[in-house]
Amino acid sequence: MLIFEKTNDLIQFRKNQQSGTIGFVPTMGALHQGHLKLVRQSKKQTHFTYVSIFVNPLQFNDKNDLEKYPRTIDKDIQLLESVDADALFLPSFEEVYQSGITYDEIDLTYLNSILEGPKRPGHFEGVVKVVSILFKIIQPHKAFFGLKDFQQVKVIEQLVKQKQYPIEIIPCPTVREKDGLAMSSRNTRLSPEARQKAPQIYQWLLKAKKLYEQNYPIQEIENTIIQEIQQDKNFTLDYFEIRDTKDLSQITSPQQKPVALIAVFLNGIRLIDNLELA
Ligand code: PAF
Repeated sequence: MLIFEKTNDLIQFRKNQQSGTIGFVPTMGALHQGHLKLVRQSKKQTHFTYVSIFVNPLQFNDKNDLEKYPRTIDKDIQLLESVDADALFLPSFEEVYQSGITYDEIDLTYLNSILEGPKRPGHFEGVVKVVSILFKIIQPHKAFFGLKDFQQVKVIEQLVKQKQYPIEIIPCPTVREKDGLAMSSRNTRLSPEARQKAPQIYQWLLKAKKLYEQNYPIQEIENTIIQEIQQDKNFTLDYFEIRDTKDLSQITSPQQKPVALIAVFLNGIRLIDNLELA
């Protein structure tokens, strides 16, 4: 696997890659099977796969979260080699933000006003900035994102649409542990006790799906699950909402396909997950 730390080295290398398709998997490291699945998908669908590892300070609204974000670079490199990633971009802050590549900004009005938006001010702006720079450097044909960050996928799709990048966004299903917990780099920060309790998040999503299949009204499903979360002293509810899979708008008709989205605190760690109900 090739490793690039300098933006200009990567740009030079990429200039000479004029044949074949390029896949890209952007990450913040602390890689797990979910990330590796994205790399495998990219390997299947394209000729050359770049992965980036960069913990982007601009998307952390909580300084403590940034400081505590797990960094496991040696293990990450081993894992990427095990799935045969072709190249890794491992830049410093300066290489991303001070190498002459300018970031793009987009109108995020709606996506910023719901779910993660108001809970994490500045988060999506930071994601858009770093992803637009990475896209300009790597110039992939396809970019792979995990659906665990459902709203992030919508934001990236908006970025590509508004800026007319010639990039296809490929959303990939959430990878779960055997007990149902969605894989996340943040899971490593849970205490052993909290880790045992964490699969309850998926149980709430499954219950919402079951109620939906039994034709319960959306509002009633939301109320039932919110009440259950509030009664569980191990968790603090941030939100539980059911929205339209396509654009995260409110569900107002039975024709819409719903997705349930949840954010809770467990053991001081904020965890998110989601499940399509139909
Ligand atoms: O999903 C992530 O890990 C990050 O938000 C991303 C897309 C790599 C941007 O920093």
